[in-house]
Amino acid sequence: MQNAAPQTIYLKDYTPPAYLVDSVHLTFKLAPTTTRVIARIAFRPNPQAQSREFFLHGEQLRLISAAIDGQPVTPDVTPTGLTCAVPNTPFIFESEVEISPQTNTALEGLYMSNGMYCTQCEAEGFRKITYYPDRPDVMAVFTVRIEGDLPVLLSNGNPVAKGEGWAEWHDPWPKPAYLFALVGGNLVNHADSFTTMEGRDVALNIWVRPGDDEHKCAFGMGALKASMKWDEDVYGRAYDLDIFNIVAVDDFNMGAMENKGLNIFNSSAVLASAETATDANFERIEAIIAHEYFHNWTGNRITCRDWFQLCLKEGLTVFRDQQFTGDMRGHAAKRIDDAVVLRAHQFREDGGPLAHPVRPASFVEINNFYTVTVYEKGAEIIGMLKRLVGDDGYKKALDLYFDRHDGDAATIEDWLRVFEDATGRDLTQFALWYAQAGTPRVTVTDAFDNGNYQLTLTQMTPPTPGQPEKAAMHIPVAVGLLDNAGKEIVPTRILELTEPVQTFTFEGLAGKPVASILRGFSAPVILDHTQTNAQRAFLLAHDTDPFNRWDAGRALAQDVLHDMVRDDKVPDAAFFDGLAAVLRDDRLDPAFRALVLGLPSQDDTAQALVDAGQTPDPTAIFQAHEALGLQIAQHLQDTLPRIYAQMAVTGPYTPDAKSAGKRALGNRVLALMSKIDGGRQAAAQYAEADNMTQQLAALGALLNIGKGLDELTAFETQWQHDRLVMDKWFGLQVTCAGPENTANVAARLTAHPAFTMKNPNRFRAVFGALKANAAGFHDPSGASYDLLADWLIKLDALNPQTTARMVTSFDTWKRYDTNRQDKMRAALGRIAGTPSLSRDTTEMVTRILG
Ligand code: PHE
Ligand code: ZN
Repeated sequence: MQNAAPQTIYLKDYTPPAYLVDSVHLTFKLAPTTTRVIARIAFRPNPQAQSREFFLHGEQLRLISAAIDGQPVTPDVTPTGLTCAVPNTPFIFESEVEISPQTNTALEGLYMSNGMYCTQCEAEGFRKITYYPDRPDVMAVFTVRIEGDLPVLLSNGNPVAKGEGWAEWHDPWPKPAYLFALVGGNLVNHADSFTTMEGRDVALNIWVRPGDDEHKCAFGMGALKASMKWDEDVYGRAYDLDIFNIVAVDDFNMGAMENKGLNIFNSSAVLASAETATDANFERIEAIIAHEYFHNWTGNRITCRDWFQLCLKEGLTVFRDQQFTGDMRGHAAKRIDDAVVLRAHQFREDGGPLAHPVRPASFVEINNFYTVTVYEKGAEIIGMLKRLVGDDGYKKALDLYFDRHDGDAATIEDWLRVFEDATGRDLTQFALWYAQAGTPRVTVTDAFDNGNYQLTLTQMTPPTPGQPEKAAMHIPVAVGLLDNAGKEIVPTRILELTEPVQTFTFEGLAGKPVASILRGFSAPVILDHTQTNAQRAFLLAHDTDPFNRWDAGRALAQDVLHDMVRDDKVPDAAFFDGLAAVLRDDRLDPAFRALVLGLPSQDDTAQALVDAGQTPDPTAIFQAHEALGLQIAQHLQDTLPRIYAQMAVTGPYTPDAKSAGKRALGNRVLALMSKIDGGRQAAAQYAEADNMTQQLAALGALLNIGKGLDELTAFETQWQHDRLVMDKWFGLQVTCAGPENTANVAARLTAHPAFTMKNPNRFRAVFGALKANAAGFHDPSGASYDLLADWLIKLDALNPQTTARMVTSFDTWKRYDTNRQDKMRAALGRIAGTPSLSRDTTEMVTRILG
């Protein structure tokens, strides 16, 4: 493969396409290594264009022939595309190319997975299928004919006709090439139907390979129907084709893809049964199905002008799927889950060498910008907008957005303008959230005098790569006040912090209140609020805002861990008492109690230490976490078995939020109990488990205390036929390995006959777990760094996208001591020095090294 020198692309350089496409006719003659793609594209000059140059993207294509208006032509072909002289008037461009799906291990473009043909075109995969203006602002009506000796042949839109070995599809909705999809294979469908509020009968299918997977579709189908209904009820948006297909694919780089009418899913993001999927898997599947379905309006009907606008569709669609999950499963727990993810992953990204704005200003490889910042921080921005304009304002703005921009390839400016036009607010300062990287830090001080309570908020956003100076942001800070008895005296109000320093006054109070700040995690900021353990314990016991109630416990735990790491300090009794009170409080939702009982992760602790100006030692953090877990177990010794018994769920397994919450609490308790009962209860649970949630939690509890070897073997025997369950088996062993042992365990697993780096799920099972085991990954020997580097070097030659994503395991290298820094830098240097390293991985390593 030839790689041109990596080129940086800038948002400011955007120019409209020179030619627009009215319609495309594609014919596929499928064959594993010699698929022919015949394209007939109707072009016309774009009146808005600044140039008349005709350029079509195309990579790794063998051009067989080309013609313009029926006359053969010989275009100039380069590794990235072709140019050609064309008329000044509308014309037809035809081409025939040959491609090789069988050998396409990058899983981008047309490829094969377990004998099935499938495509992945976002962001720039269509150019590996045929010559085309592969950019999202070129939208066209597609007609597709597929020829292949396979029972099922699918593409976007509605089916037109089919016969032995062929099928034709037509998608009436103009779309960019990145939403194109094709599937061919021996598949069976789980079928259902949905009637839209407009009276359209829609056929629904989930397509899987014949066999076990057929019995794992029912939950996903239910989630799809719930999503369709929800988008009608909440956003007034109905589905717009006669058929909606989902296909499960085993080899897939991401979670799933929203291709128009033909969503393609990583099988891990759609297939579930009680026996094989955990509660967390069920919840994730429901959310991803919703996410992809919601893209039909926010992504497909309104798409992005260019890839810098990625957050336009992703931030909004994540926000919508979060709202949906909240409605389905409870808003308090959902908000906490989302904040945990944001802090663990997005704050980490935003605080390191990979920090970038939600709308980046430049990129080398767009695949490297499908990040937690674009997705999750992008969703936080929508949440803040909604908080600022209110629910009615939000609804008006969204209605205007769909009205005004249906059929458009839009920008963030368009998006913000609908909010300004619908609500009259000036969002000039707010727009900085899209342009400025880094997590703002908001510091709180307060004073009480003569019935007046004054809160002073100071904001500061640290420098990030390429952005040394930061301006003040527009930050909605939700605040409520409690009195000393824990009664709410000032209900939640939104303070709009717009200045570097700003004081807000609450008048006419009887005494100094306790402030509950950043309720509901009203903005993605780090809150610096010095409070005593007693104040935190008070909020943990009394706050009326569930998020802040949980967060008080979290801050308390973080302080305790911090002290233990720094000087082996014995935890404050207030901490154990606070935990015990929440644990025993039957009025509280079990899911909420489980969240309070969940300690910050070791990486969270490392981040907190960095925020406090210290160099974290992952080994010491690991020991502190272990010691604290044991002390909690000892303090709550009498309570744990009782709660465990109360949380037992009887009857057949159902994945609903209520039973999942009970299992979550029961299994947190089980993990603690195992630290003092030698794993007796966990072994019993393992033996009795009739569902994967209980089975896996028991196995994890055993492995974490160095037991469970028999169970591990039994698990493998039981599940060796199931790829998704075996991913858990691979991952869990690495997650639960002791620090000095982690690299060995991971290395041993890569030698297992079922390990393959061609399957991203399997590769991530081992190496995602290696990153997640913080002390094991950062073992001072450097063994894990070396192992990961070795494998990433191998994987890059096959699958650059997944390699580039996984290199981010090293993005925190600057936090650590010189030994670890040197070893990580050496590993990164080794990757960087690999001959013909992909553009994807090169960009990431370069940015990480800084
Ligand atoms: N657009 C997909 C989503 O958000 C993600 C994706 C990106 C999938 C690139 C594949 C490739 O749901
Ligand atoms: Zn998405």
